[in-house]
Amino acid sequence: MHPSAPLLVFDSGVGGLSVLEGIRTLLPQAPIVYAADSAGFPYGTRKAAEIEARVPALLGRLVERYDPRLIVIACNTASTIALDAVRAALDLPIVGTVPAIKPAAALSRTRSIGVLGTPATVVQPYVDRLAADFAADCTVLRHGSAELVELAEAKLRGETGELSAYRRILEGLLGQAGGEAIDTIVLACTHFPLVQPELEAAAPRPIAFVDGNAGIARRTAWLMRDEGWPETAGEGIALFTGPAPEAETFRLGLARFGLCRIETLQR
Ligand code: DGL
Repeated sequence: MHPSAPLLVFDSGVGGLSVLEGIRTLLPQAPIVYAADSAGFPYGTRKAAEIEARVPALLGRLVERYDPRLIVIACNTASTIALDAVRAALDLPIVGTVPAIKPAAALSRTRSIGVLGTPATVVQPYVDRLAADFAADCTVLRHGSAELVELAEAKLRGETGELSAYRRILEGLLGQAGGEAIDTIVLACTHFPLVQPELEAAAPRPIAFVDGNAGIARRTAWLMRDEGWPETAGEGIALFTGPAPEAETFRLGLARFGLCRIETLQR
């Protein structure tokens, strides 16, 4: 691999930046292409079949364009639905992002866990399997929120959401029968760690919020352990599949994650 070959970090929008942060800490020299499928955003309200067709095709185009060493699908919705299809279509290492139910089960004292994801993710059989395999002795309640995804995107554009909106979203989980016992919430959408301070402020009691981002960074670094990197960290690229003016609204937010160049997919 050429030292300038990048890691490709992919999400429907800016949520995957929460995953990128941990990767940059462990692999500071790695060239990064962060790809946001803004033309397809949001994934969380799409049908599974659409995502299963769209994601491998789009990643195929991005592989042709950037020739990455590895792809991180920094999106729970895409990973829980299309990970197998992507692995079957592409011949390079693929790291997925799936709800951190296992670490949440290890942490919960009340044995009651909440899973907060997109509407598409929380109904996936993949989540049923994670709950059965790793949290069989826990009550696992789920809530899908497309609004929380929008709040995270807005925060990256520098807009502040009302705390009452966060309270209402949490109530969708904690207000369910048995929700009063939840002491641990899995942030099962990569957008949500971006608004974790707001969720903590809105929570009616101390609740642990758990995501899988540190594990994804460790897995990525391990897979890349024998790779050579450029001497100095290059500028990261943010690629948007949708229109450039919309991408521009994220410029300042992206720069905080080391992504100073914006590209779009139009040729
Ligand atoms: N960030 C994505 C996830 O982890 C989904 C956001 C969306 O609805 O597009 O699930």
